Amino acid sequence: MSRKIRVVIYGLGPIGSLITKYMVKKGFFEILGGVDIDPSKIGRDVGEVAGLETRLDAKVVSDKDAERFLKEVKPDVVVQSTGTYLDKIYPQIVKAVTAGSNVISTSETLVYPWYRYPELSILLDNLAKRYGVRILGTGVNPGFIFDTLPALLTSVHAEVRRISMVRSMDASKRRYSFQKKYGLSLAPEEFIEGMKKGEYTAHVGYAESILLLGEMLGIEITRVEEGQEPVIADRYMETQYFKIQPGRVAGVHGWGRGYVGDQLFISVDLYASVGREDYDEIFIDGEPSIRWRNSPGVHGDIATASMIINCIPKMLKASPGLITMKDLILPTFSTKI
Ligand SMILES: NC(=O)c1ccc[n+]([C@@H]2O[C@H](COP(=O)([O-])OP(=O)(O)OC[C@H]3O[C@@H](n4cnc5c(N)ncnc54)[C@H](OP(=O)(O)O)[C@@H]3O)[C@@H](O)[C@H]2O)c1
Repeated sequence: MSRKIRVVIYGLGPIGSLITKYMVKKGFFEILGGVDIDPSKIGRDVGEVAGLETRLDAKVVSDKDAERFLKEVKPDVVVQSTGTYLDKIYPQIVKAVTAGSNVISTSETLVYPWYRYPELSILLDNLAKRYGVRILGTGVNPGFIFDTLPALLTSVHAEVRRISMVRSMDASKRRYSFQKKYGLSLAPEEFIEGMKKGEYTAHVGYAESILLLGEMLGIEITRVEEGQEPVIADRYMETQYFKIQPGRVAGVHGWGRGYVGDQLFISVDLYASVGREDYDEIFIDGEPSIRWRNSPGVHGDIATASMIINCIPKMLKASPGLITMKDLILPTFSTKI
């Protein structure tokens, strides 16, 4: 594409705002406007809402006016960063696609939507193909650390027997919405109850990463398990946003396991709690076996914004439809032609 990529930012929370900031720095994007439901953001300049020093001469419109606005400005890409669950964000994606726009989203469930939402996935795939556009979910995790990155690392393998991964994060270094969804400062029973009701999600995407990675390698994962439990504070702790008494929630340990028959093939463990060491580690048991470790770990917010921005040019080269990171050009270990 010789001209700038014309975008609308749908959801100007911390992540949508960071994406806006880095897009302006890149120089090859033209931001046409934003969409949000927060009344304090509607009608203001996107640059101002995103906390930039410069105005972008692009307004934030209400979600209620999104359909009309998108059809009027016809962006090449709608960057969607409003929520996790595909059933909730589905109407927003439909508005973008029917305006003829490609959609790239930070929704964790959209990274491998066939797992939780098989029917919606078929509808979206058909819709995207009808309008000749792509829909892609990505981010740091799911989207990179537990799926695309290990897939890339397997490129040097003659054989892969098992992949084990750990992402360990100091939750106190993350944004307010992250700390809130990990239940910081709550009583453990309140957090567990809130998780059941969907009020607190902690990490979503263990299964999505496992299934995506399996598909990237051409290996059929026949069973997936996932779970999460609170990490309890053993002393008083404090973050920029929360004061945590001993016995209250200081973070979460979550896990996912992917099996081929009875054999464990992929295991992921995520630890996000206050004061925890920051690192990412991937162990591939195979021929050869390798251990990849990055310390401190990849900063999630910067990485998510960067994944969105860096994947846009590649996404535009993919075939229309509901796509995954597997459809972007990437070398990996492969089991199929
Ligand atoms: N894949 C990954 O690796 C990854 C990484 C980071 C984040 N994420 C996900 O990305 C999403 C965005 O993160 P965030 O921290 O920026 O979330 P956030 O703080 O909830 O911000 C979302 C923004 O979208 C707005 N919004 C909500 N519903 C809307 C609608 N129907 N129409 C228009 N705007 C709407 C919100 O307004 P209100 O504040 O008024 O609700 C808010 O301004 C989250 O779901 C998060 O879990 C994924």
